[in-house]
Amino acid sequence: MRTQVAIVGAGPAGLLLGHLLRAEGVDVVVVERASADYVLGRIRAGVLERTTTDLMDRIGLGERMHREGLVHSGFHLADGERLIHIDIEALTGRQVMVYGQTELTRDLMDAAPGRGLQIVYEASDVCLHDVESDAPYISYHKGGVAHRIDAQFICGCDGYHGPSRQAVPALVATAYEKNYPFGWLGILADVPPCSQELIYANHERGFALASMRSGSRSRYYVQVPLDDRIENWPDERLWDELAIRLGPEAAAHIVRGPALEKSIAPLRSFVFEPMRHGRVMLAGDSAHIVPPTGAKGLNLAASDVHYLSEALSRYFRSNDNDAVAAYSGRALARVWKAERFSWQLTRLLHRFPDSDAFDRKMQIAELDYIASSVAARTAIAENYVGLPL
Ligand code: FAD
Ligand code: DHB
Repeated sequence: MRTQVAIVGAGPAGLLLGHLLRAEGVDVVVVERASADYVLGRIRAGVLERTTTDLMDRIGLGERMHREGLVHSGFHLADGERLIHIDIEALTGRQVMVYGQTELTRDLMDAAPGRGLQIVYEASDVCLHDVESDAPYISYHKGGVAHRIDAQFICGCDGYHGPSRQAVPALVATAYEKNYPFGWLGILADVPPCSQELIYANHERGFALASMRSGSRSRYYVQVPLDDRIENWPDERLWDELAIRLGPEAAAHIVRGPALEKSIAPLRSFVFEPMRHGRVMLAGDSAHIVPPTGAKGLNLAASDVHYLSEALSRYFRSNDNDAVAAYSGRALARVWKAERFSWQLTRLLHRFPDSDAFDRKMQIAELDYIASSVAARTAIAENYVGLPL
């Protein structure tokens, strides 16, 4: 098979990029290791920046998101006792949208056939070849049969564990990484949220987050040690812990219910440079990971593919190589700022095993400063709603 752009990975980055390129008339094939149901079964991000919702609107797929998504004008930080309101709309003039990654992915998936976006699911052994030449290709197996897709560009949207990053030789690449000594245990339950807005809580027992998917579906997280296990957290223990960490105001409104899903995710900061080598371009989690504290992972994937689709569209429209060459630098400038914000918020809100009484006082002082300073709240709000493209 021959196409203009082969995309590895049908997560949000791959699907959004596919649609953006199709809207410009570019031929695209997406190759995904998992099944469509498996991709939809992963419960991940929940908060979309305006930059991300604008992209959905631009490709004409924002209708259900605007109908079912929840527009949020602010969120809370909590310090164990009080709630500190970050009024993002008053501080920045912008809002965010609570709409699950699953729903966004479903909208992109459902629209693919009608837009000529071909997606090959359950492709195994995906390999990238000749990425330093003008004629790269990918190979894979499906149903025991070997396949090959020749393309002009290969876009690696295959997440942290995918093969695309490995196609960039170690000699030209640098990876920056920070692993945190804890993870987030998440629970999804069909109960009304305890608060109309999200609550990010720093409690001396550890971080907790109250989030939601709708008026009747809640998503909560608690910080747990890296070696903790789901079996250690029967539903009642988790609800008890959330009530303690989120503080008395939120606890009074927590409605308990059985877990629809429960999982533990480690926290990591990671950036891989450059995001392009020859004819392979990386986007989303294949090139960078943020700890989820700032709700930036999915939104960074979206801003990457905005830059990438622009670069490739210009290439196919006018043979303009400059935009392709500039992609990595443009994307990384925004990536590093989101890395900084996510790292800073993670340090502010979590309990670190090696922290001492002084470190704890620093966190409390910083939260107190944020509560008292419009400038500090504005800095948080403008990063949370998303920096300009
Ligand atoms: P992915 O969504 O990972 O998509 C990559 C795709 O590539 C997958 O479908 C994968 O199956 C496919 N793939 C992988 N290997 C191959 C291969 N060899 N061949 C073909 N296809 C392949 N962000 C938040 O903001 N909030 C959260 O609460 C949050 N929770 C998260 C929980 C977990 C467990 C993880 C892993 C991430 C979480 N994130 C969260 C981050 C956010 O979900 C990601 O940033 C976002 O999914 C990035 O999209 P992506 O398309 O780049 O990568
Ligand atoms: C959700 C996840 C986040 O990482 C975050 O910062 C906010 C919300 C969520 O899954 O709802």
